[in-house]
Amino acid sequence: MKGVILAAGKGTRLYPVTKAIPKPILPIANRPTLDYAFDQLKECGVSEVCVVVGENEAVMREALGDRTANGLPLSFVRQVEPKGLAHAVGFAREFVDGEDFILYLGDAIYDRPLKPYVDQFRASGSANLNLVKPVEDPRRFGVANVEEGRIVKLVEKPAEPESNLAMAGMYVFGPQIWDVLPDLQPSGRGEYEITDAIQMLIDRGHFVEAGIYDGEWFDTGTLESFLATSRFLTHSYPVVGEGAEVSCDVHGHVVVGDGAKVTATEIVDSVILPGAVVNVSGAIRGSLLGGEVTSEADLVEAIKFGDLD
Ligand code: TTP
Repeated sequence: MKGVILAAGKGTRLYPVTKAIPKPILPIANRPTLDYAFDQLKECGVSEVCVVVGENEAVMREALGDRTANGLPLSFVRQVEPKGLAHAVGFAREFVDGEDFILYLGDAIYDRPLKPYVDQFRASGSANLNLVKPVEDPRRFGVANVEEGRIVKLVEKPAEPESNLAMAGMYVFGPQIWDVLPDLQPSGRGEYEITDAIQMLIDRGHFVEAGIYDGEWFDTGTLESFLATSRFLTHSYPVVGEGAEVSCDVHGHVVVGDGAKVTATEIVDSVILPGAVVNVSGAIRGSLLGGEVTSEADLVEAIKFGDLD
């Protein structure tokens, strides 16, 4: 079993922070986001890990290249343009080399082990297992219609969902996936969708199954979800990194990275990235700040992104 992590997106919903630090290596609770993926893949028993990178290749290699993925051999491939998850996975074909593999989204974090789903996949002999999570409002997700553990239909963001099972960002594939990828067409939003590839497996009569996940599942892709993930991982305790200087009160969930220097009246429910220099006259609330936030122009960027007053 191999592990493929998709980390080639632009992370536009976290601009401007992700222009400086790609989303997959943004520190969350003081660890690079991908470290949580490496932990999971290691527990799943994968033999090696490939990270699909994009424009962020140089920064990603610099940050991760001289390491292993928690002791597992680590390599990189480059997706030329971020044209969708099914497009991205195609670049890992040589790496996977006909084996079964776990496909893991670089911005996903789970609080429960994923190994049971790998065991389920192995025991069932299916062509593909998809982690699905019961959610209250499935309309913003890919939704799986499941009959006796078998996924019979996938619908992307349905207006009237027929099930409450959202596709939860972790997949296990056998080699059958490589036969459908060349036949995929771009979706309405111009991307090669992994849900379309999976639907094609179903349409061609392959056994596609659901792994029902009931734990916490976070995706770090928006300010709100990044802060919620950070809050969960730190158990809402304030975390102040080594060498950080904070000249104000902190309230609620606050993480100040190593070496950051913050001057403000207070910090509430916010993450200050390592090495950041923040010097503002008011309070910092609900923000993710990095780099230098000292001039009027920086403040405008920061306000767009978080909530400074
Ligand atoms: P998304 O969150 O859909 O995309 P993104 O990371 O570019 O963020 P944004 O929408 O804010 O611009 O992607 C989910 C994961 O999949 C993420 O880890 C990046 C990865 N990905 C690729 O590797 N290649 C792709 O073509 C796309 C669309 C995403």
